[in-house]
Amino acid sequence: MKEISEMKDKIRAQVQGATTLNISFIGIVNGLFEHLGKEPSTSRELATKTGMDPDYVERWCDAAYAFGLIDAETHQFTLSPLGEIMRPSHPQTSMPQVVQAVLGAHMSERIAGLMRTGERPGEIILGERETILPWFGPMLEATFGPIFENQIFPAIPFFTEINRDDALAIDLGCGNGWYLRALARHIPKLNGLGVDGFRENIQQATRRAGEEGFGDRLRFIQGDIFSLDLEKKADMIAMNRALHHVWSDKEILFPMFRSCLAPGGALVFWEPSWPQKREDLKADGKPPLAFQNLGEHAQGNRLLNPDEIAEECRKIGLTPTVSLFLNGNEAVVVARNLS
Ligand SMILES: C[S@@+](CC[C@H](N)C(=O)[O-])C[C@H]1O[C@@H](n2cnc3c(N)ncnc32)[C@H](O)[C@@H]1O
Repeated sequence: MKEISEMKDKIRAQVQGATTLNISFIGIVNGLFEHLGKEPSTSRELATKTGMDPDYVERWCDAAYAFGLIDAETHQFTLSPLGEIMRPSHPQTSMPQVVQAVLGAHMSERIAGLMRTGERPGEIILGERETILPWFGPMLEATFGPIFENQIFPAIPFFTEINRDDALAIDLGCGNGWYLRALARHIPKLNGLGVDGFRENIQQATRRAGEEGFGDRLRFIQGDIFSLDLEKKADMIAMNRALHHVWSDKEILFPMFRSCLAPGGALVFWEPSWPQKREDLKADGKPPLAFQNLGEHAQGNRLLNPDEIAEECRKIGLTPTVSLFLNGNEAVVVARNLS
């Protein structure tokens, strides 16, 4: 009996946690935390400054106050320490976890229905929520940007080798373009072209590259990876968390990648590392992959093990090296064209 009551206490705490994230999501996407971080405000002032409906904002303030996200002093609200890290501009923001949680709830609701028919609607499912879609890129950037900076870039010598005049990097499925921006910061001679199917991503990528002063070196186009048409061969063709989206057509794509790659160049794939054995799904950091893979199924995809990526690279005559990061949960495969 004690065991059941402990489990139920745990579930109640999880519901409370999930509700905190839900309330936070509303405050993040509507700029409420950012504004309160700038100046203490009444709920009316907060509504006026953010362009939101005052009655909704008043009730949001009550909820955010009740869940410890904001503090109240007389009629004004300020950010609590927890609310502080909900600001997307905070250097250690919790925005990615909040967006991921709400996206997860959306995907769960969709999958519950899709499981009844077996339908797999494809990537469109990610774009169904208009308040989530613009946060998809920032979520990935805030989650994986620091890992790239601190662990992956320093560990892969190929990145610094391509600091040559006119070096060209292509990023297929580039999202909001954060990866090319990160490369451009480190590799002063690099030019980049990002391709993505979602218009929202290309708009964000182009704007952010311009804001960071890379407008002349980085270009982003909306298009399909399968219709890649390059003016010259690339020194690097990268795909971050995008290869598994097109893996079912690997027999078409890998030869195409090979023909687009300059001598000495490389394919650079970064993918979550799906384990070989089911019991490894319980390993540290792996459970989220199992949930992600359920969502990938609805999108027509599945997560990949790095060895199958390396094998595909060998088949087209490239020489792959697999590097693992974050307890083996993230894999980077660099496949060199040594011919
Ligand atoms: C998980 S996101 C990764 C985005 C980005 N690479 C990052 O790391 O933040 C996968 C991206 O691949 C893009 N994508 C998938 N299939 C595509 C295709 N056939 N053509 C163009 N883009 C595609 C999606 O639009 C999406 O932005």
